[in-house]
Amino acid sequence: MKIGVFDSGLGGLTVLKELISEYPNNEYIYFGDTINLPYGNKSKKQLLTFVDKIIKFFKDEEVDLIIVACGTSSSNIYFDIKDKYHVPIIDILSPTINYLLSCNNKKIGVMGTEMLIKSKYFDKYLKNKEVVSVKAPKLVPLIEKGEINSLEMQTTLKEYLKVFDENMILVLGCTHYPLLAEKILKIKKLKLIDMGKVLSKHINLTNKGQFKIKLYFSKVDATLLKNVKQIFNDCKLYEKKL
Ligand code: DGL
Repeated sequence: MKIGVFDSGLGGLTVLKELISEYPNNEYIYFGDTINLPYGNKSKKQLLTFVDKIIKFFKDEEVDLIIVACGTSSSNIYFDIKDKYHVPIIDILSPTINYLLSCNNKKIGVMGTEMLIKSKYFDKYLKNKEVVSVKAPKLVPLIEKGEINSLEMQTTLKEYLKVFDENMILVLGCTHYPLLAEKILKIKKLKLIDMGKVLSKHINLTNKGQFKIKLYFSKVDATLLKNVKQIFNDCKLYEKKL
C-alpha cells in the first residue's frame, strides 16, 4: 500500500514515525510544505490552496491513502477536502477525539496553533467535557528553526503551560509538539496525548509490501536537514516545488 502523509513542515514526521512502527511493510511518501510554513496563522482559503497542490502531487504519485498529519488543516479544511479527490483521506484529529470521548477525565487541555484553537474543534466534539485551550503560535517557528533546546523555547513553553493543572490530560494538538514532549514533562507533570500515536494504534492498514520511504519538502535548507536527521537518521530529502 502506498501512503501519502503531509504537514506544513517536519511535524508530520512524528506521525509518519508512528505509522512506520505499526505498519512497516508499506510504501510511504511524505510532503512537508516548508515554503508555506507555518500553516497555523493562514486563512482557510490559503490552506485549501496549499493542500490542493499537495493532494494533486500525491495523486500523481498514485497513493492509495492520504493522511493529513497536521492539526491545523484537519480542524479547518478536512471536511472541504475529504470527498473531493477520489482518494481516501484520513485526518489526524478524529482518532484522538474518539479516544478522549472514551476516557473518564472531565477536563481536557489542548495546546495548538492559532487556527486550530480558533476553529473550536475540540470544544465542538467534546461537548460533555471542559476544554482548556491554549494558542501556542511561537512553537512551530522555533522548532523549525532548530531551537528546541533554546532558552526562548523554555520560557515560551513555561508561559503556555501555566493554565494546565498537574496530572491533566494535555492534547498535543499540533504534530510538531511531540518533539517537545520531554521538555514539557520537565516543566509540568501532564498526561500527554500524541495524536500520531493514537492514529497509528487505531487505524487499520494492510501491512504486506516492501518498506519504502521518500521525503519531499517544498524548501530544503541546512537547518531542515539537521532537524530531520534527528527524527529519521539516514533518509534523503528531496526538494519539490508544487
Ligand atoms: N504540524 C502542524 C499542525 O499540526 C503545524 C502547523 C503550522 O505550520 O503552524 O498544526
